[in-house]
Amino acid sequence: MKTGKHDAIVLSSSEEKDAQAVFSDLLKNTPIPDDEILSNLGLYLTSKNLSRVLFFYEIYKKIVETHGIIAEFGVRWGQTLSLMSALRGIFEPFNRHRKIVGFDTFEGFKGICDKDGKRCNCEDGSFSVETDYERYLRKILSLQEQLNPISHLEKFELVKGDAIETIPNYFQQHPESIISLAIFDFDIYKPTKAALEIVKPRLFKGSVLVFDELCDDIFPGETIALMETIGITNLRIKRFPMTARISYAVIE
Ligand SMILES: C[S@@+](CC[C@H](N)C(=O)[O-])C[C@H]1O[C@@H](n2cnc3c(N)ncnc32)[C@H](O)[C@@H]1O
Repeated sequence: MKTGKHDAIVLSSSEEKDAQAVFSDLLKNTPIPDDEILSNLGLYLTSKNLSRVLFFYEIYKKIVETHGIIAEFGVRWGQTLSLMSALRGIFEPFNRHRKIVGFDTFEGFKGICDKDGKRCNCEDGSFSVETDYERYLRKILSLQEQLNPISHLEKFELVKGDAIETIPNYFQQHPESIISLAIFDFDIYKPTKAALEIVKPRLFKGSVLVFDELCDDIFPGETIALMETIGITNLRIKRFPMTARISYAVIE
């Protein structure tokens, strides 16, 4: 499957990019038979990619004893949603209240503005995915559930469209939702601000917030959105040593 657009600048050196391309080729031309491929995916995990998985493993442990849904703001191919579903299957396979909800246009960035600066080299439409990609992702998330208990109860939702409209609509339709984990990964200012404003009254002591681009000079909009909504002075913004960019805070 080919991405439509990505656009953002990549900080890897040319040697790293070359090595990554060889890695991708080896994956595309894998000699591993179909019935062994899923159980051997670790073969293709580089330190960088594994570090993100480990980050979310640590984050999931923090929410196991809290109540509420997981919301991801910015889904793209859905790797994090799928990971969350797998972790739910490991840590709390019977927790039907731990719904996993993902918001995305599935058509790339929408609403990029001056507060996002110029460095990211992006525009509306960057980070788009294939037409109808949500159907593919829905299949993956259904299979994740099928391989765990209570699979007859669907415990995920994909909400397609501009977050500025879809997030308020979703929570209007689901007034019962409180948030144990919110993952902010729209990258850009306007939808991030909208998400933070709606999420704020649904947080409680123990809710975990994850930010993918805080303090990131390529995507300044996320930091500005946080400062204009929840603010940072009362947040203990932390990270784990294995990842550089992604950070989190537990509401105290
Ligand atoms: C960096 S990607 C998310 C990556 C994903 N969290 C992951 O773990 O791989 C950012 C996503 O935000 C989405 N996005 C940007 N602006 C949006 C908006 N106004 N409404 C909904 N989604 C938006 C884009 O479509 C894109 O898929």
